[in-house]
Amino acid sequence: MERDHGPNPWLDADAPRGEAYDDRFARLAAEGHDVHGEADLVASLGLRSVLDAGCGTGRVALELSRRGHDVVGVDLDAAMLGVARGKSSLIRWVQADLAEVDVGRTFEGVVMAGNVMIFVTPGTEGTVLANMGRHLEDGGLLIAGFSIGPGRLTLEAYDELAAGAGLDLVERWAAWDRTPFAPGADYGVSVHRR
Ligand SMILES: C[S@@+](CC[C@H](N)C(=O)[O-])C[C@H]1O[C@@H](n2cnc3c(N)ncnc32)[C@H](O)[C@@H]1O
Repeated sequence: MERDHGPNPWLDADAPRGEAYDDRFARLAAEGHDVHGEADLVASLGLRSVLDAGCGTGRVALELSRRGHDVVGVDLDAAMLGVARGKSSLIRWVQADLAEVDVGRTFEGVVMAGNVMIFVTPGTEGTVLANMGRHLEDGGLLIAGFSIGPGRLTLEAYDELAAGAGLDLVERWAAWDRTPFAPGADYGVSVHRR
């Protein structure tokens, strides 16, 4: 399909990917940091089926699957998804753009962890949210955590795009551990309901 939008910032970024991406989390875990805050929050919301949107190396999907959730992972980056595939053949991994993917089923939750919303191709944010909404059951939850700051997607813009996709804000925290959100926070974890 011909693209109307520019390049994808994640694919263009000189960021560690694949095994190198995972190494960072392995180091944090070895230092005693909790690296499963996203999975903890998703699990606490009682979501039995979850689409891990922008799953990368499968960090969150694998932990949720290990805890018994029914999970599918979608990511654009073959290098990231290749690592996820190497870790589990039980989970369905789909290489696709979140703006266009159709995994053919709905979920109780969609999670976008690790800044996915600020890495999607600029100009497609609303299309991504509408498509994620289509993958949610009625009453299902979209949980997204991303950095906020000058020049970045604002939470106001995000909420507006979400509303356009039929998604209503129900919760917002400053971190995955439910730290209360306060103006000036540099990170937001938002929960919207379809
Ligand atoms: C920082 S990584 C986060 C990976 C994973 N969610 C985690 O928390 O470990 C951002 C991911 O978003 C994916 N991504 C960015 N834009 C995307 C798009 N339009 N469709 C699918 N995946 C996308 C990238 O390929 C990358 O794997």
